[in-house]
Amino acid sequence: METINFTRGVPANESFPTAELIDAATSVLKSHGAQMLQYGPSRGFEPLRQWLAEWQRVPVDRVLTSNGSLQIIEFLCLHLIKPGDVVFTESPSYDRTIGLLRRHGARVVGIPCEADGPNIEALGQALQKHVPRFFYVIPDFQNPAGSTCSGTKRRQIVDLANQYDVLLVEDAPYRLLRYRGREKPTLYELAPDRTLHMSSFTKLIAPGVRTGFMIGEPGTIGKLAKIAEDTYISPGYVAQAITYEWCRRGLLPPQIERLKALYAPRLDACLAGIDKYMPEAQATRPDGGFFISLTLPEGVSTTAVRTQAATKALNLADGLAFFPEGGGERFLRLPFCALSPAEIDDGVKRLAESVQATRATAAVR
Ligand SMILES: Cc1ncc(COP(=O)(O)O)c(C=O)c1O
Repeated sequence: METINFTRGVPANESFPTAELIDAATSVLKSHGAQMLQYGPSRGFEPLRQWLAEWQRVPVDRVLTSNGSLQIIEFLCLHLIKPGDVVFTESPSYDRTIGLLRRHGARVVGIPCEADGPNIEALGQALQKHVPRFFYVIPDFQNPAGSTCSGTKRRQIVDLANQYDVLLVEDAPYRLLRYRGREKPTLYELAPDRTLHMSSFTKLIAPGVRTGFMIGEPGTIGKLAKIAEDTYISPGYVAQAITYEWCRRGLLPPQIERLKALYAPRLDACLAGIDKYMPEAQATRPDGGFFISLTLPEGVSTTAVRTQAATKALNLADGLAFFPEGGGERFLRLPFCALSPAEIDDGVKRLAESVQATRATAAVR
């Protein structure tokens, strides 16, 4: 039996535009060789920053690039966090961000995340207790839940942020991978002066380009650029230059269309599998992104299901690290993009059998 991995949220190998990148690399080494091989400003390879500024319709002093977007969260922590400071995230949220925040000594307060975004009442109550250094939100196709914040909740988050003077950190690497439905405004569009908007080419081109970016208030961008300079002098210009040349050639829009054509059937296979094999499951039903999440039935823990699944050559990740303040014992994230529809169908079937086996074991005890 072939092993199926519902573990890491990685893109599909077959999605990488390798031939286009070879071409872009050859060409940009000829046109910008010295500039991309030399040290330079820590904000990033200048032509890429200019391209990003035009694409995002912002002045270029609002643009910072880095080696992946996670690195920018690290810089933000170095800039803003002292041990004991409070930071809000959704609960669940991206485990690596929670880990970074903790490494800087932040006290991470989790705002329950529902199918349509953070619970606004809980956010309001949490704000009455603490004004955080920032609220880290993943509004589009959230990692790990797969939820998307509704337009109404986005406005409510901005209203509360205005009322309590809170900085919003909007992490949106999956936003452009919408397979159906209408896009909602970004928090940055609603509140450009109090939002730092982040995204990345790692899900659009390949993780190996390690090119992420932040759009935000120029003063903060300048401070983060200084930390970046003190950390690595300048980011990986070779990858940034190839990314730039590839973008300049107009290859991003067709790549996004190809990704949608590749991933939408995988999302559909996952939803169909859940309907077929686990009709009672409580699952998110996203319109895009990389993840569906499930809440397992009462009395069935993810840890126990993982053990059962391992006997059926199905690897699952446990969900506890996504919950900053505990919980998540029955939470399961299913990243579907790197599996074929047939593997997904088989994987969900094995998952349903693992849940049944876990229930049966629990009943015997
Ligand atoms: C929400 C979120 N933010 C950031 C990252 C990291 O992205 P990058 O590869 O650009 O560092 C990921 C990767 O999975 C993610 O899901």
